[in-house]
Amino acid sequence: MEQSQPLKKSSSRGELLGDIFVDVDYQPITFEYGTFKQVVHALKTSSTDYDLTGQIIWKAADIMSKYIIDHLGPSVLKDQTVLEIGSGPGLCALVAQHFAKTVILSDYQDLVMDLIAINCEKCAVPTCQLLSTQLDWMKCKEADYYETLPVLEYDGKQMVDHARLPAIGIDYIIGSDIVYWTSSIEPLMDVLTLLFQRNSATLKAFYFCYIERHVVTHTQLKGALSKAWDGGFVVEEVMSEFAKGIDPNAYIYKVTARGSE
Ligand SMILES: C[S@@+](CC[C@H](N)C(=O)[O-])C[C@H]1O[C@@H](n2cnc3c(N)ncnc32)[C@H](O)[C@@H]1O
Repeated sequence: MEQSQPLKKSSSRGELLGDIFVDVDYQPITFEYGTFKQVVHALKTSSTDYDLTGQIIWKAADIMSKYIIDHLGPSVLKDQTVLEIGSGPGLCALVAQHFAKTVILSDYQDLVMDLIAINCEKCAVPTCQLLSTQLDWMKCKEADYYETLPVLEYDGKQMVDHARLPAIGIDYIIGSDIVYWTSSIEPLMDVLTLLFQRNSATLKAFYFCYIERHVVTHTQLKGALSKAWDGGFVVEEVMSEFAKGIDPNAYIYKVTARGSE
């Protein structure tokens, strides 16, 4: 990926903690794959002292984006609504916007939502509706959380209210590097169960790229997926040669509701 002019945006979180702790020196980074190009703003390296993994683009996002281009593309995503969970800067969503009708980026920290707003403002293509929502997996079991979750869109000047999340039928969920600690597994199962329940008429699959760093975390993740949802999700590893050709520890999983496969 190549770098060009730096971009700074002061954030509410950045102002709170001070720039000593929070780095918001975002750079436009160009993701290139064959003739495909997409700029995404992010930190070039993880130079912040604060735990904000959502400010940088992870290798899994690069692999998942290549998978979207090669194996989903317009044949799967045309006229579809795609939600990216744990987007961070949102490379996968920004790639998916080239093929889908509507793409929603989501994360949970204010500072990452500010970065998502930058990417919605600067990187939207005119053929897709690009939206954002602050979907925190840890809060999704709270009463009325999902019902009232605001979805924002860029109006040419700023992100403004568009709808509540339940008003949008989601066809596909995507994600990359969204599990790195075992503590993320249970909240992830909660949000997936909720999303599959609430979008049962439209939701076809959840695709995500996982990088194995610890065997135990990977085993727990697969076990949790097979138990969550009503009777367990069906979890299928797809294109393993493709993923492992880029990183031997990379896995791309397709997750569907049992009975819909
Ligand atoms: C390792 S980063 C991956 C970012 C991006 N998907 C990528 O691959 O470049 C993990 C992401 O998951 C998000 N995340 C972690 N816990 C979350 C939660 N409870 N709710 C929503 N997002 C969460 C983080 O904020 C971060 O953006």
